[in-house]
Amino acid sequence: MLITLRQLLDHAAEHDYGIPAFNVNNMEQGLAILKAAKRTGAPVILQASRGARSYAGDFLLQYLIKGLVASYPTIPICMHQDHGNSQGTCMTAIQYGFTSVMMDGSLEADGRTPASFAYNVNITQQVTDMAHFGGVSVEGELGVLGSLETGMGDKEDGHGADGILSEDQLLTDPEQAVEFVKATEVDALAIAMGTSHGAYKFSRKPDGDILAMHVIEEIHKRLPDTHLVMHGSSSVPQELQEIFNEFGGEMPQTFGVPVEEIERGIKHGVRKVNIDTDCRLAMAGAIRKVATLNKGEFDIRKFLKPATDAMEDLCVDRFERFGAAGKADSIKPITLSEMSKRYQDGALKPKIQ
Ligand code: G3H
Ligand code: 13P
Ligand code: ZN
Repeated sequence: MLITLRQLLDHAAEHDYGIPAFNVNNMEQGLAILKAAKRTGAPVILQASRGARSYAGDFLLQYLIKGLVASYPTIPICMHQDHGNSQGTCMTAIQYGFTSVMMDGSLEADGRTPASFAYNVNITQQVTDMAHFGGVSVEGELGVLGSLETGMGDKEDGHGADGILSEDQLLTDPEQAVEFVKATEVDALAIAMGTSHGAYKFSRKPDGDILAMHVIEEIHKRLPDTHLVMHGSSSVPQELQEIFNEFGGEMPQTFGVPVEEIERGIKHGVRKVNIDTDCRLAMAGAIRKVATLNKGEFDIRKFLKPATDAMEDLCVDRFERFGAAGKADSIKPITLSEMSKRYQDGALKPKIQ
């Protein structure tokens, strides 16, 4: 069953849990996520970046989603655009059947230039106006993702801010967050607090100086009814780094966001937790293992099946740790037309004290 992000996150807030949002680029990743959801009885957020859309192709991707929805009819599935850079990216995602879009106006449309607050508010407002007419949810972002250790925006995935960023840019300002949510009426707010995309987030196990969990707590105090989103939330588990390196990989020691810090965020309003790198690493390690141990193997399924299994195990763990396991059964999807009516009636307007 397709479902909107707003409905899922409202349910998560009501029952105090978080939902991992896993990136999907191909059938195997889709299967790994849905098998894990079925095993744990969890609702699902699948998200496709612009890169994923061009990798798989929009036309094919829409049928992959339809196929997953049809194959797992009891699981509520939200299909979300990750890091939309423009009104066009968000609009075309909706046309291809996405039930949620992220308008990331923290950067300009080039994906490199940090945007002004006015630019961000204006473009996000345009997207919420448009998406809400269709009952589709919108995630906005305030603050620029990047490292508090180096001041660099994240570049690993080929997008992210250029140059050195100030602390003001790297940490979402709680007062501005209130203004932003009020003006844009977003359904969820992504915030910056020292995380970045990719494997190389921290050079040591992060403490409060480089992973600013207090920012989440301050924003949640001011916006208790707003669903918060943590990006760059892969944990880059040591055991996955070891498998990757044992079978010929070369990944220097690195640290991600500890799962217990995410659990702490979930206690303070974090409802959506973005994870891509951990899934990539789980699959890549499993593929390396087959390639190293069985040099004669050329049946691609013999690589992809263990890779899918490794990603499934990772997803199961996150569904369980974030409290999403067992929640699928109690969610009955509301149609897009009904969601649209609720937006137009003002029933879904942000509650700001
Ligand atoms: O936004 C970050 C995700 O990890 C997506 O990465 O643009 O390489 O698909 P990508
Ligand atoms: P990771 O690179 O930490 O998995 O973050 C993914 C993400 O934030 C996608 O938007
Ligand atoms: Zn992200």
